[in-house]
Amino acid sequence: MAAKSMRFLRDLENLKDKKVFLRLDLNVPMKDGKILDDTRIREALPTINYLLEQGCRLLIGSHLGRPKGNSEEDKKKYSLEPVAQDLVEKLKKEVVLIDSPDSDAPRGLLAEGRMDKILLLENLRFCKGEEANDNSLAQKWAKCVDVYVNDAYGSCHRAHASIDALPRAMRVKAAGFLIEKEVEVLSKIRNAPETPFALILGGSKVSDKIGVIENMINKIDILAVGGAMAYTFLKAQGVPVGASRVESDKVAYAKELLKRFSAREKTVLLPIDHVIVKSLDTPKGFQTTKEEAIPEGWMGVDIGPQSRELFAKELARAKTIFWNGPMGVYEIPPFNEGSFALAKTIAESTAFSVIGGGDSAAAAVESGYSEKMDHISTGGGASLEYMEGKTLPGLDALEH
Ligand code: 3PG
Repeated sequence: MAAKSMRFLRDLENLKDKKVFLRLDLNVPMKDGKILDDTRIREALPTINYLLEQGCRLLIGSHLGRPKGNSEEDKKKYSLEPVAQDLVEKLKKEVVLIDSPDSDAPRGLLAEGRMDKILLLENLRFCKGEEANDNSLAQKWAKCVDVYVNDAYGSCHRAHASIDALPRAMRVKAAGFLIEKEVEVLSKIRNAPETPFALILGGSKVSDKIGVIENMINKIDILAVGGAMAYTFLKAQGVPVGASRVESDKVAYAKELLKRFSAREKTVLLPIDHVIVKSLDTPKGFQTTKEEAIPEGWMGVDIGPQSRELFAKELARAKTIFWNGPMGVYEIPPFNEGSFALAKTIAESTAFSVIGGGDSAAAAVESGYSEKMDHISTGGGASLEYMEGKTLPGLDALEH
């Protein structure tokens, strides 16, 4: 039997007049109906424009946030209306927002055959069947279109109807340009990173990152750890961490991991000083330690200046860098300074640099250095699962 493979947009022929279901990840951060960061919308434009240039009729679907039900409050809060407006501005085309994604409306509108307007389904998570990966919902959409294109990289780890059941029901299907780019970059790092390879992990929990560490362990030359994760590692070394957040049930794992790295003669970088506070409610009372120990009653909220320098010095020899997870409580300034300093280090390095989405991508963008990174993934959870070596349902469902 021939090996299964994925088709990409340019493999699709005769697209003229075809009705296309285009799954995008338009799950952008929003506050009071205003889009805070439009990166995911901008990253979707090459695929949208290509399909329009080919003469396709587009039915776009996406989720937004995590609505709990169908209450009027949720419908307002999680509506794709602001995204529809943004698409109108960016594409200079009419965008029709279809209120009920599981209604018969798309079928009729697509059949009307007007090429000058784009159909956007309201938040797919307003339909019960979306998260349940419901086959009948997928069949309903499948009957409206000739072709399925997925460019929602950030959602490919979700086995939901528009990501999984729908492409499985379609004969003609392909990955869009964004997925093509993400998979090309991340597969290179996952399978054969140019060495020395530095994996930089931050964020709150060691448990979230165990899968990546274990899958990559034989390829990692430098493991740099920041964020609350680092306090679990320091505790494993017997360093006092005061009232810092520690995952008690992962201290033994951290200890074992440090031994495994040392046996391999690989470098592990942990913070050697910290920004500390007594409480996150009083951030202005922060102090900076001169050493790795954190006093009783204080908690670490960012890596300190000496750690930033140490990380910069050691990372200078890396040829590949993958960073996932902020170095501190970056959403509360000035505890974003460690993450910003790291972003600067990565931007100035000659290594092939990839930021693994989510909070670290936001920190990289806010730092002002994102343009100098080689790749900033649009997928947080998706990139992490990809680096863990897992099969992402959304990618698997595109294979023939
Ligand atoms: C993301 O933001 O990571 C994706 O859009 C997936 O969203 P989810 O975690 O709510 O499924």
